[in-house]
Amino acid sequence: MITLALSKGRIFEETLPLIQAAGIEVSEDPEKSRKLIIGTNLADVRVVLVRATDVPTYVAQGGADLGVCGLDTLIEHRAEATSEDLFQPVDLGIARCRLSVAVRDDFDYASAVRRGARLKVATKYTHMARSFFAAKGMHVDLIKLYGSMELAPLIGLADAIVDLVSTGNTLKANRLVEVEHIQDISARLVVNPASLKMKTDRIKPLLDAIQAKVRASV
Ligand code: PRP
Repeated sequence: MITLALSKGRIFEETLPLIQAAGIEVSEDPEKSRKLIIGTNLADVRVVLVRATDVPTYVAQGGADLGVCGLDTLIEHRAEATSEDLFQPVDLGIARCRLSVAVRDDFDYASAVRRGARLKVATKYTHMARSFFAAKGMHVDLIKLYGSMELAPLIGLADAIVDLVSTGNTLKANRLVEVEHIQDISARLVVNPASLKMKTDRIKPLLDAIQAKVRASV
C-alpha cells in the first residue's frame, strides 16, 4: 500500500492534476465527505487528509509514504527535527505564495528599523522569522500564534507579523502593508526515506510521472 498525505484546500486541489499524471484518481471529494482516508482508482494507493503542519510528521514517522506540504511547513519542521528525516525530491511549483513581514499602514517600519527599535512580531513561523531578523541584526520579541496573525497589529498585540501572502487581499482588508519579502514559498513533495528504499518499484515511477508533469507545466 502507498499512502499519500495531503491537506485539504489549495494543496489538495493543486496536487490532483499532478497525481492524475501518474494515473491516480481520488474516489471522493474531501470537501463533501468527512472521511480522512480516501481511496483511489488504484487498489494499492490511498490518500490521507491531515493538517498542513502535520504532513512532514506523518511522512517522517512512516504514517504516510509521501506527502505534499508548503516549504514554510517543511522549514519549520526541519528546525525542530533532530535528524534529516525526509527526502525532498521535487519542488511542485504549486500553492505559490511568499513569506513576508507586514505592519499596519500607519506604522513607520523603516524608521523603527533605523532607530533599532525592538519590535514585537506575531507569527506562526517562528524559526523563519527568527533567522530573518537575526540576519538583519534586529532584536525582536516573537509572539507565537496559530492563525489570524493579521489581527495582532490591529489590536496592539504586535508591531508586525510574519505571514504568508498570496493575493495580498487579507492584508489589504485589514489595512496592513508588506514591508519585507522574506522568501518565496511553493509546495514540495516529501518522501519517507525508508519507504523509498523498500517500495522503490512503486514509488519511483510515481515520482518520475509527477516530476515530468511539473516540468511540463513550467
Ligand atoms: C494564509 C495566510 C493569510 C492568507 C493570505 O492563510 O495566513 O492569512 O492566506 O492570502 P491572501 O494574500 O491571498 O489574502 P490560510 O487561508 O492559508 O489559513 P491559515 O491562517 O490557517 O494559515
